[in-house]
Amino acid sequence: MTGNESAGAGAIDVVTTIAEVRRITDGHRAAGRSVGFVPTMGYLHDGHGSLMRAAAADNDIVVASIFVNPLQFAPDEDLDSYPRDLDRDRSVAATNGVDLLFAPTTAEMYPHGAVLTTVSVDKLSQRWDGESRPTHFAGVATVVSKLFNIVGACRAYFGEKDFQQLAIIRRMAADLSMPVEVVGCPIVREPDGLAMSSRNVYLSPEDRCAAVVLRRALDAGEQAIRDGETDPETVTRALRSIVDGEPRARLDYAAVVDPVTLETPPVIESETRLLIAAYLGDTRLIDNCSVRTGQDRS
Ligand code: PAJ
Repeated sequence: MTGNESAGAGAIDVVTTIAEVRRITDGHRAAGRSVGFVPTMGYLHDGHGSLMRAAAADNDIVVASIFVNPLQFAPDEDLDSYPRDLDRDRSVAATNGVDLLFAPTTAEMYPHGAVLTTVSVDKLSQRWDGESRPTHFAGVATVVSKLFNIVGACRAYFGEKDFQQLAIIRRMAADLSMPVEVVGCPIVREPDGLAMSSRNVYLSPEDRCAAVVLRRALDAGEQAIRDGETDPETVTRALRSIVDGEPRARLDYAAVVDPVTLETPPVIESETRLLIAAYLGDTRLIDNCSVRTGQDRS
């Protein structure tokens, strides 16, 4: 039993076992081929597609994983209802240049049930999303470490959509000398500006319309900085007031941060990231944007 489901001519291979992925990626590296890797939780949209296309452009072989990782969901979160559609994911992945899809079961990834060994990235994991989701980033860092150990030396592609996650994975790979080059990719948006997310399907039609407020708030913050505002607190207030003006939205946090440390600088004077998280109904959405100031501006 290889865990390899053959899907007929032209269709993408889905591998379900760690041993099989290792065998295949080791073979490619031994033949001198570079491996690109795109970890996902599935229910693929064009945000995921953009990472796959970037991986295909840079590498000889592209592996993507689909695993809804229980370790990064708190007990009251949406693990059971998280949207899943492997058949559709398989064709989206194939269309976007993926050669091999790794879709393990939970038992394959966590054969002992609970894990005794976890990876946590101090400081970066505690702020912002980490305040609302205190165990989330250790769950992410642990599963991504496992996936890096399974896929082996590669370039790994992550979206700036989850900016805090990207900063954490970069730091983890550097701190632990992982043989992985972490590549960040731009946010892909719907035509009205809402960042694409698998969780957007949870939004009611009214909340879906209102959700564009996150992008509007970021635009207002960006404009304030471009107009010369250098006080992070004033910029944060600008974001907050836009979200407060949308009755369907409830702000979780708005922040002005350094893109590497994720700390708020005393004064905005170089490349800065605006982060925002808000609830629309029960759905928590996140978004962010980069702002360059003064002489940094291109
Ligand atoms: P998931 O939410 O499926 O996202 C997988 C990758 O797609 C992440 O790197 C994410 O930042 C990127 N992505 C999602 N929406 C995007 C968008 N609109 N534009 C660009 N990139 C986007 O993030 C996870 O899964 C998990 O935490 C994971 C890293 C797979 C670990 O379980």
